[in-house]
Formats: sequence, C-alpha cells, structure tokens
Amino acid sequence: MSDFSSSLITWQKVHGRHDLPWQNTIDPYAIWVSEIMLQQTQVAAVIGYYSKFIQRFPDIATLAKATQEEVLQHWSGLGYYSRARNLHKAAVTIMEVHSGKFPEDFDTIQTLSGIGRSTAAAIASFAFNQIQTILDGNVKRVLARHFLVEGWPSHPKIEKELWARAENLLPEQQMVAYTQGLMDLGATLCTRSKPKCDSCPLINTCEAHKQQRVHQLPTPKPRKTIPEKHTTMLILMRGDEVMLERRPPTGIWGGLWSFPEAENAENFVDLAFARFGISTKAAEALPRLSHAFTHFKLHIQPQPLIVLINETKISEAGYRWINVDDAICAAIPTPVRKILQSLKD
Ligand code: ADE
Ligand code: SF4
Repeated sequence: MSDFSSSLITWQKVHGRHDLPWQNTIDPYAIWVSEIMLQQTQVAAVIGYYSKFIQRFPDIATLAKATQEEVLQHWSGLGYYSRARNLHKAAVTIMEVHSGKFPEDFDTIQTLSGIGRSTAAAIASFAFNQIQTILDGNVKRVLARHFLVEGWPSHPKIEKELWARAENLLPEQQMVAYTQGLMDLGATLCTRSKPKCDSCPLINTCEAHKQQRVHQLPTPKPRKTIPEKHTTMLILMRGDEVMLERRPPTGIWGGLWSFPEAENAENFVDLAFARFGISTKAAEALPRLSHAFTHFKLHIQPQPLIVLINETKISEAGYRWINVDDAICAAIPTPVRKILQSLKD
C-alpha cells in the first residue's frame, strides 16, 4: 500500500468523521441519496434533509413509485433540482431495468441519471467495497497540492492526470476508510484557505508543502476573456509643456501623474474648455497603444490638444504644466512615458 493510503486510512480512523447519518451503512440506496445531496450542498445543510428524505422514501421502490412532484417537494430548499429529478428517474430505471436492485457493476452504476464517475466510485467503495477512486473538487485540491500538479484541475488534461494519480494511490483493502479519509482530509485539513498542514498525515510526502507553495494550488480557473477598457488621454500642449493630472491615491496608477482622460466618443475641445477653461484645437490623434494589467487590458487613444490662449487658469492642486523632458522623468505610468517619447520624436 502506498504511504499516502496507509497514512490516510490510519488518520481517518482516529481523526475522521464517523457519525454522519449516511455512514455505518452498506445500503447502496442510502449512500446514493447522500452522495447526490452532497454533490452541491454542504454537509451541515444536508443533514436535516437527508433523514426526512430517507424516512419518506426509505428504498428504491418507494422513490420510484412517488411522483416527481413529491420528490421535488422533499428536495425543496436544497437547490439544484435536476439532482432530484435525476434521482427519481434513476430509481425508475433501477426498477425497470435492474429488477429493483441497485447495480454493482461500476460501469453500469455510471449509466444511471445523475451519477458520474466520482459519485459512482463513492457508492461502489462505500456500499460494495470496490477499489475505485473518487475525484471531487476537494480531492482534486488535495492531489494538486500533494503532487504539485499545476493547471486548473478541471481542465481535461489536468483532470486526466489527477484521475491517474488518484488510481495509483488506491489501497487493496479498507476502501471505506480510504474514501472517507479523502473526503475528510479535504473538508477538514486540506481546505481551500488556511490548510492545517501541521496536523496533516500527508505532510511528509506533500510536494506543495515541501516547496512552500500550498497557497498557490490548486491553480484557479483561467479567466475566459480579460475585460478590455478604452480611454482617451488628452494631451494638452502649451509650447513644450504638457498638462499632467495626479491620479487618485488608490486604484490603477494610484498617485502617479498622468494625462487627463475622457471617454472615446466625446468632443475633446469642448471637454477641455468645460473642464479646464482652456481653448484648444485638436491635432491629429496619435497611434493607439495598449497596456495589459492583471485583470484587464486598457486601450489608450492619445489625443493632442494644442492650447490656443496662453493664460490658462490651472491653479488647482493635482494639475501641473510640465516640460516634456521633465515629465518623462516624473512619476508616470509606462504608457504615458511612451506617449511623451513619441511627442519628442
Ligand atoms: N461529501 C460527499 N460525500 C461525502 C460523505 N460520504 N461524507 C462527507 N462528505 C461528503
Ligand atoms: Fe494539504 Fe497541507 Fe496536507 Fe499538503 S500537507 S496535503 S497542503 S494539508
């Protein structure tokens, strides 16, 4: 048996959970119902519902005979109601196709509505002591950390690797303690935030812990598309000076000096007059540039505005006229520096 499995089983027997309402039974029906409820609902929320559900629908035949309406009624408040519809549908299938007996064959279990590979493995190991591995979100997190598997764990390629690793770890016996141990470790020690590595039975073999990278795993789901934002930077030019505005202390470029900004579609001459009391004429726009932040991409349209009347009354703090050469050396963001450079060229 791997060190992983033997440590986990030993730990589960002492520190794991032993008295949940769906434990200490090998009735596949009772286990099945609990696993479906626990798919998307926390243990604490499931406990109350579970007993009432089992009381009303104590076996497969009773569940199959009930109307969908009544099954949904008993599910009411648990959410994700397709779980209840699938449960009911699968009960009917078991009555009609499997002579009312919950199937033991691992592949057959997975043909039932609402039962995927991990749920089938939970039922098969708890009810039939079969050597099959679960791989739910918690287990993915434990394995991603223990073996330092980088990449979003539900990406097909990563998931495939995690299934393979999980299968490699399987013990030859004691599947109930092992499967429950995987669940308990993920739920109580190897939690998403603040994992309790000091109490973990796997600490000696855990790669993430060894490399002090626990907090970096599992790799979060990649953002589908980085949001893109657009802005126009107003380059008010007076001789060889430009006007800079101090940005608010927080947010992007907090406290740095930058060009005043406007929405892309505005009339910039009118805007400059309204905002600063300065008459200008627009020069040809400079080429657009883009800047990537962690969470979004900013497209910047630099718009030069030539100051027509020289006596401007910018006296407010937070604005300054500054020589282009001095501006380049000031506390300015990179794209602003690029724009200033292009003004010089
Ligand atoms: N989550 C899914 N199955 C579970 C089980 N059998 N015990 C505790 N939490 C679980
Ligand atoms: Fe998870 Fe920490 Fe245990 Fe590694 S040592 S499996 S990170 S709890």
